[in-house]
Amino acid sequence: MGMKKLKIKLGKIELNSPIILASGIFGYGNEKIDFIDYKKIGAITTKTITYTPWKGNPQLRIYETDCGMINSIGLQNPGIFYFVKNILHKIRKKWPKIFVSITGRNEKEFIDIIKILNREKVDAIELNLSCPNFEKKQRMISQDPDLTYRIIKIVRNETSLPLIAKISPNVNDIKEIAIASEKAGADILSLINTVKGLRIDFKKMKIIDGGLSGPSIKPIGLKCVYDVYRVVKIPIIGIGGITRGIDAIEYFLVGASAVGIGSGLFTNANIIEEIYKFLNQYLGKRNLKNIIGLLNEKESNP
Ligand SMILES: Cc1cc2nc3c(=O)[nH]c(=O)nc-3n(C[C@H](O)[C@H](O)[C@H](O)COP(=O)(O)O)c2cc1C
Repeated sequence: MGMKKLKIKLGKIELNSPIILASGIFGYGNEKIDFIDYKKIGAITTKTITYTPWKGNPQLRIYETDCGMINSIGLQNPGIFYFVKNILHKIRKKWPKIFVSITGRNEKEFIDIIKILNREKVDAIELNLSCPNFEKKQRMISQDPDLTYRIIKIVRNETSLPLIAKISPNVNDIKEIAIASEKAGADILSLINTVKGLRIDFKKMKIIDGGLSGPSIKPIGLKCVYDVYRVVKIPIIGIGGITRGIDAIEYFLVGASAVGIGSGLFTNANIIEEIYKFLNQYLGKRNLKNIIGLLNEKESNP
């Protein structure tokens, strides 16, 4: 019944639900979480892993803002060897599907990580192309279409695992980055990552410079998905500011095939349950068989 309606195919990957946990929110998914019904989640995207362990940034790294939050975690992680040895086998039993998010500081790091993951059972690799210090320059891979193409292409040549390219909204034209990703062989796109933002901590008189997420970025995420949907054929995971079922519907209406939930999980532990229920009811009321039906309905009544 309801359960079946929400099954989707994301490229070749079959998911029980279009609701995906965005990278970084639950860490690696290895902690005990008793408030989530795993059946209602399509996949967990693990926090971005790098080749060697990264320390991340000092200080408190998550700050509330007027309508969301700013984080400056700096991709702290224990490195791929630790992840594969101590974490991956534990979470595999728990989560329906596992998307492993990775990044690298240079081409070799990407290749080395992929070679390790090729030997493991994972459902997809998500390339976090918003890593801020590629080749020691202050730039993100997904701010440059040629670099985006090059990195995805070298990874594509190393693996037959499904590849998700996660791209940044901090660009002039996200369409050209999406097109470069598709051309290079990405199977799926994930957008958006956080938006550059800043807040002032008056108590400490400090500037918090980081990535903005939450409801304040939803219009940016929607616009990006809307634009990208028109220029690529590969499916899109829509992410950014989803806190309610209707937000997810908005993403589907502009072309997303699945949605990623990020900071919403910090403010509402019941968010997955609520969105899942809402989507089921929404499709039911409109007599639609699935999420794709939603998009078709919209296209015949623009
Ligand atoms: C605390 C925190 C940690 C994050 N860590 C990662 C990460 O490791 N890799 C990544 O690709 N995105 C990371 N993100 C970005 C989210 O996956 C998501 O793209 C972004 O927060 C926008 O979605 P939201 O508005 O629902 O939070 C992180 C976000 C937050 C808030």
